[in-house]
Amino acid sequence: MSQVTFIAFDGSKMLIYAAAGLSLMENAVANGIDGIEAQCGGNAYCGTCRVIPVGEWAVRLGTRGDVEEGLLSSLDEGNALVRLSCQITVSEALDGLVVRLPESQS
Ligand code: FES
Repeated sequence: MSQVTFIAFDGSKMLIYAAAGLSLMENAVANGIDGIEAQCGGNAYCGTCRVIPVGEWAVRLGTRGDVEEGLLSSLDEGNALVRLSCQITVSEALDGLVVRLPESQS
């Protein structure tokens, strides 16, 4: 299990213990994180699972995959750090991950 902190737009923090092998989105939904809608169920076409990695995590998560990049580009997302949590697979290497949630997922 990896400890992951979600920071809501209002600054409130929510800590979960995320299971390896599942996506960050799946872990967030399983733990009742508000603000992760995941309308497409993790198929990388809704864009409602967006998170913004904090600090060093912007680098440690690696670069966006092609599918992820394609969707985020089409959404005209102005923040280059934004990621799709459904495309991030949790592993022990992500222990301590901190991400912010956008103001809305629309
Ligand atoms: Fe739809 Fe991530 S759940 S893009």
